[in-house]
Amino acid sequence: TVDGNSSIRRVSDWDADRLAELAAEHGTPLYVQDLDRVRENCERLRGAFPDADVRYAVKAHTGRRVLEAVRESGLDAECASAGEVDRALAAGFGGDRLHYTAVNPPARDLDYVAGVAEAEPDLTITVGAVDTLDRLAERGYDGRVCVRVNPGVGAGHHEKVRTGGAAKFGIPYDRAAAAAREAAERFDVVGVHAHAGSGIDSDQLDSHRELVARMGELARELADPSDDEAPVDIESVDVGGGFGVPYKEDAPALDLPAVADATREAVAPLPAGVDLAIEPGRYVVADAGVLLTRVNTVKPTPDERVVGVDAGMTDLLRPAMYDAYHPIRNLGGGRAEDGSDAPAPDARSATPVTVAGPICETGDTLCRNRALADPTRGDLLAVGIAGAYGYEMANQYNSRPRPAEVALDDGTATVARRRESLADLTAVERGATRNRADRT
Ligand code: LLP
Repeated sequence: TVDGNSSIRRVSDWDADRLAELAAEHGTPLYVQDLDRVRENCERLRGAFPDADVRYAVKAHTGRRVLEAVRESGLDAECASAGEVDRALAAGFGGDRLHYTAVNPPARDLDYVAGVAEAEPDLTITVGAVDTLDRLAERGYDGRVCVRVNPGVGAGHHEKVRTGGAAKFGIPYDRAAAAAREAAERFDVVGVHAHAGSGIDSDQLDSHRELVARMGELARELADPSDDEAPVDIESVDVGGGFGVPYKEDAPALDLPAVADATREAVAPLPAGVDLAIEPGRYVVADAGVLLTRVNTVKPTPDERVVGVDAGMTDLLRPAMYDAYHPIRNLGGGRAEDGSDAPAPDARSATPVTVAGPICETGDTLCRNRALADPTRGDLLAVGIAGAYGYEMANQYNSRPRPAEVALDDGTATVARRRESLADLTAVERGATRNRADRT
């Protein structure tokens, strides 16, 4: 199931013994990110979109090793903040492979990126408000600009991740051509951009197609204006990312070549010299990652069987935030009630359980009422498809140090991000009494 262009690596495809070894060596919760799968996903995207610029949306996974793998695979970097630009630079992205998408950008971010542009004049800044253009001009920036459009059509796995149609993002479609022409008087306008949302599945392809068609129309209008406006000579039409991956065990994977065909067809005919661009994040990294967590408490209650684990919403926020489904596989290794080794998971009965983390919030669950091979204390659970927006959305709520992450490269594991310590929790705090973590 791991090759071919419309495949997904399921949690059942991972080598259970290897994951158990990694958990034993590095402790839990632990993210494992397989760089070989990241590279495969990059190749699948480039294979399906051979004629497009593929820009990796760095926000999905910002780890250095991942960024380097993506760069070596030939993708550009699309960054959402100064911090992401900084990471992309450190991972070797530069020149015209660096894109910064500014959404209500803090002054500090604009200062930083305007500074970077002096050394990297080929970077592109994507701008979704005329105000942002003014603020760039104030900083002496007159370089490459891409105009972000609100395409008026959105898609995605949850209303919280639909960007198209949301007023926060982009210049309204009917004003976009005029805005691009005006911008071209002050900047080098090199493209137009729109993003429908995140987690688009096969059922939402109509919205995707509609967005793409509108962007193609806009590109033609800029190249060959319907009235006597001056043409704007752009290089690319960026139709965003958002390609979904199937989280549910029985959900089909997106047929990427078919999506690519539909995209090309909807955007056509592109003016001469204008390329299609896409900026997928999730698709590159999601199924390359798992989160390992250990069962520490099993509690039968009148209503449900609650399985307490050491990872929670601070490690993987998606279930709490979007009711997102992540596949969970019991890798076993725990003890039976009498202290003997529990049977292998496939010899246990499937039992409906709620898997809950250690955070003091009712919403702190990784799944509810899901049939798993009856978990027992000490079992290791693998939470699948956790490589996108997993570690990235981890936080320190409840004063929880963030988990560790290991990168697998051709089977060799190295610590990519060390586990945070209690001392890390107070590292930025001033005037606090020295705590126990400092003393030891
Ligand atoms: N381009 C832009 C301008 C974006 O805002 C995003 C995602 C992407 C590209 C990449 O989208 P992707 O291919 O990864 O779907 N935290 C949420 C996802 C938020 C995505 C925000 N923008 C989640 O965990 O589902």
